[in-house]
Amino acid sequence: MNEPNFFESPGAGGSVGQPLDRVDGHDKVTGKARYSAEFPLPGLTYGVLRTSEIAKGKITSIDTTAATKEPGVIAVLTHLNLPKLAQTPNTPEGKKAIGAPMGFLPLTSDEIHYAGQPVALIVADTFERATHAASLVRVQYQAAQPIASFLDAKAEIFDPLKVQDGKTPGHTRRGDPQAALAASAVKLKATYNHAINHHNPMEPGATTAHWEAADRLTVYESTQGVTRTQTALSQMLGLPREQVRVVTKYIGGGFGCKGSCWPHTPLTVQAAKAVGRPVKLVLTRPQMFTSMGHREDQTQTLTLGATKEGKLTALIHEKTSTTSPWDNYAEPNSRIINLLYECPNFEAKYELARANVMTSTFTRAPGEAPGSFAIECLMDDLAYQLGIDPIQLRLLNYAEKDPSTGKPWSSKSLKQCYARGAELFGWSKRNPKNGLTRDGRHLVGLGMATASYPVHNSQGTARVRLYADGHAVVQSGATDLGTGTYTVMTQVAADSLGLPVDKIRFELGDTRLPTAPNSGGSVAAGTVSSSIYMAAQDVWQKLTKLAIQDKRSPLFRAKPEDVINEKGRLVLRKDKAKGEDFAVLMKRIELTDIEGTGNGKYGAGYESGMAASPADSGHKDDTAGHSMHSFGAHFCEVRVDPELGTVRVSRWVSVHAAGRILNAKTARSQIIGGSIFGIGNALMEATHRDDTFARYTNATLADYHIPVNADIPEMTVEFIEEHDPYINAMGVKGIGEISMVGVAAAVANAVFHATGKRVRDLPITPDKIL
Ligand code: MOS
Repeated sequence: MNEPNFFESPGAGGSVGQPLDRVDGHDKVTGKARYSAEFPLPGLTYGVLRTSEIAKGKITSIDTTAATKEPGVIAVLTHLNLPKLAQTPNTPEGKKAIGAPMGFLPLTSDEIHYAGQPVALIVADTFERATHAASLVRVQYQAAQPIASFLDAKAEIFDPLKVQDGKTPGHTRRGDPQAALAASAVKLKATYNHAINHHNPMEPGATTAHWEAADRLTVYESTQGVTRTQTALSQMLGLPREQVRVVTKYIGGGFGCKGSCWPHTPLTVQAAKAVGRPVKLVLTRPQMFTSMGHREDQTQTLTLGATKEGKLTALIHEKTSTTSPWDNYAEPNSRIINLLYECPNFEAKYELARANVMTSTFTRAPGEAPGSFAIECLMDDLAYQLGIDPIQLRLLNYAEKDPSTGKPWSSKSLKQCYARGAELFGWSKRNPKNGLTRDGRHLVGLGMATASYPVHNSQGTARVRLYADGHAVVQSGATDLGTGTYTVMTQVAADSLGLPVDKIRFELGDTRLPTAPNSGGSVAAGTVSSSIYMAAQDVWQKLTKLAIQDKRSPLFRAKPEDVINEKGRLVLRKDKAKGEDFAVLMKRIELTDIEGTGNGKYGAGYESGMAASPADSGHKDDTAGHSMHSFGAHFCEVRVDPELGTVRVSRWVSVHAAGRILNAKTARSQIIGGSIFGIGNALMEATHRDDTFARYTNATLADYHIPVNADIPEMTVEFIEEHDPYINAMGVKGIGEISMVGVAAAVANAVFHATGKRVRDLPITPDKIL
């Protein structure tokens, strides 16, 4: 058997791409689906965090007497009595565990570094009793003056390049941008400010820790990656990986905040150790603002040079953002600016300032979301300045290969996205002048922006067990954020095995299953689907071997390379009438079931020869050859009330090209969800950190505004059919993050078209319009 090629559909049953309803939908709406805080373990206890009111200082005394005396209270754990971990970053020789983003672990000393830092963990027999007891803990502090953000006059701005931790984005330079800018006919420079955003998934962070023996632990965790959490915990606990099991069957959203192992998880594990019973801890909504990272407050300045015809000559990007006292995280905004348009000269610089906040982290489209806001707004300004249509300007600067690396794209269908989006939206009817379109008392504006997101390097594994009775169990230790992993992987398995979808049981979310990557960076769909596809190929190869050795098989003595599988039948490539059904073969040779494993790899597309040879590790992958990205375009219509300054999105069109689309329905939902996430970022979302106390002042969903149904119009979403032969065996690029890239710029550009007012501070609230 060779050349397994999903595009030519050997064995394909036609389920992939169909708008199949969620296979887990019924379990979710009936409450049967078990989320991480819903495992009813015997002897389960309830953990509640008490957090610090001050942002900087020391705990001088902590009185737990009253809390301890309350009925039902089992333990009041503080830095004085919580069992010590084998490894934390806090000791001189200590270091961060892989997958644990904080360079500091609370409840290990008397130091306070940020408001909302846990200072006690109360365990009781009910949640209510634990909550009440937490309020009775008396903490006294010696408070110091905190630093609230990079804007604080006391904040020291530093160059993260000097840190060289390999994680902080550093300086990038191509060509001679300063000289090119000086020689440019057109120069534009603008500064963009971004409010702090919090992920706020519907399901908060949740940990249920169960020590089954003194050295064996199971954790039910709301995480985007069971393996990453297992890695972090096993390091912190000093336990072999196989003694730490992490289970995540369902997730109620994550958007990046569940991509790492945050402090509440090891703290709950240690609390369970201390009380000798399972402990469940669910973060409250206000605690979600200080426990699992955020999108950092940042400012970026973008300078652009162009010819008078509108060809880019230079781009210079500078970003300054707030980070925690110990880590150097910054969203890599310049990445997208470096590759979106053909431009021979480019430079990017990053600066950081330490403040008394917890570490910020990836938030849906980290880097690409804010980076696209800067470049896509400035391109819009350039279009107006030169009197060129915004789409025309983008086509004039279209990058036929990746400008940041010089490599050809593995595939790029952005021109088709522009064309189809413009057609669906009616772009040609737009008045090119701003401030001139009215509907009654409202100003109407039409704006657009480009989207792009990389296909990140990733690999994973899957296992397929095919039974002679015609069903299969398919497993991969992936997670389903709620976006449809269960469903799309069932479809891929069905088609790869030539079985109906109701004969597939797909299992995920457990470190006992084959290792899969985090559901993050938009890698899950491509990597896990390719792993399953390769595992199915492994099954077919094994069955082919058995058939050609069996005298009773019509394929007896055939050459393995002449046998292909077609809809569950093994047949001769050149004479498809000759062959047999897998079930017939398995029953005859008395094989009840057969197992295959597969490795889905980045760069191992069907064209690269990798997908054809799961067992052959001699192949070089194609990661060096091509630049792999998805592309798209968003079109936005707004109605602005000139007296109130309110902005309403009244029409929306998104067209994306992201390789193979596994399920038309869940994919459309992903793009709608990401676009709404972006509209929230554009118009509403802002966490306010008080300048004096470095505390959040709106840490609830009543005060932190996100779009509701009434804010969102009917949305039009389409995909351009795209076959990418390089990225992975299934040709899937992933769509989790591209959906929000460019969204804020499309909204801001529409606001500019409506009003003539260019707002560069997100969110675009009414006060900035008036
Ligand atoms: Mo995504 S922000 O990589 O979870």
